[in-house]
Amino acid sequence: MEKLFSVPLKGGTITDVYTCSPDDVERTISSYPSSLSVFDDNTAKAYGKSIDSMSLILPHGEEHKNWASIDSILAKAIESGLARDSVFFGIGGGVILDMTAFAASIYMRGARCVLVPTTLLSAVDATLGGKTGIDYGGAKNTVGTFFPSESVLICTELLKTLPESEYRSGLGEVLKHALLSENAELWNFLLDNKDKVLSRDGNTVSEMIRLSLEVKISYITRDPEEKKGIRSALNLGHTFGHALESLYDYGISHGEGVAWGVVRALEAGEAMGITSHSLSSSASELFRLYGFDEGFRIPEDLFGRYFKAIGKDKKKKSGEVRFVLLEGQGRPVLKPIDEDLVRRIVTKRA
Ligand code: GLY
Repeated sequence: MEKLFSVPLKGGTITDVYTCSPDDVERTISSYPSSLSVFDDNTAKAYGKSIDSMSLILPHGEEHKNWASIDSILAKAIESGLARDSVFFGIGGGVILDMTAFAASIYMRGARCVLVPTTLLSAVDATLGGKTGIDYGGAKNTVGTFFPSESVLICTELLKTLPESEYRSGLGEVLKHALLSENAELWNFLLDNKDKVLSRDGNTVSEMIRLSLEVKISYITRDPEEKKGIRSALNLGHTFGHALESLYDYGISHGEGVAWGVVRALEAGEAMGITSHSLSSSASELFRLYGFDEGFRIPEDLFGRYFKAIGKDKKKKSGEVRFVLLEGQGRPVLKPIDEDLVRRIVTKRA
């Protein structure tokens, strides 16, 4: 196991991030006398896991990110005799990680938690920063806590077997981090290593994850509970992107939606005189290079539904949706955008 980072977060908690092999994960789990490992049925299969007294397998999918799953985790924890110093292992994508950490955060007022991401998206996003939770009341992540895990174990080997669409979804977030970075390291790395990134070369993927997490860390350590308007920048592309995902009933992956949304945010910034044309066009070029359909536009007759979906965005403050825009690479600002400009940016030109 190699330690990549020690990240200081909420209330003096430190999250240690390691790269490791699946055997290291097994060894780590066995090293704790009392633990519960939570999988979904897909990851359990990939992991060759069957139900035993120390593990729980939940059905996969966003539709199971709910109280019923939290109830199952807590019931299993009680049944297995877990105490406050026992460890909850979340092994899976973002849904499993968010729910396991949420259950750990409320079990006996806070047990221990270790996260093992099995998707690129969760490796570069859900693992770090302590956001936990479930979907409730028809909206995503409406109930939850901030509860940073004590460690994160990233096995790049597991990412080799991800379906292509799942891997690409993670790349959307990685490219977003390149734009949010205050330096050019990740962006240049992506430009120089496209073929190795796409063929999932082990060392290249590890380095890409390290550089990507470095960007996330710089935002979450400055604003651990998203109270200062700094961490919200990580939502670059999400307001445009979530609404697109919702418009197409989640037939578009999260990362594809974010990638599309980042390019729209840059175009909007350019139209508002905030973003330079050169940043906007070189970012579009980067997304194109990685095969994202960044030029896609929605049909004009769907705009009403699209704009309504934007209104549901959770970054709505005092009745106003604020978008993350970029004054430059690594220089985010939050601003409202008027409906006419959104229409111009997202719809098919006649
Ligand atoms: N996923 C965005 C954040 O962690 O704040």
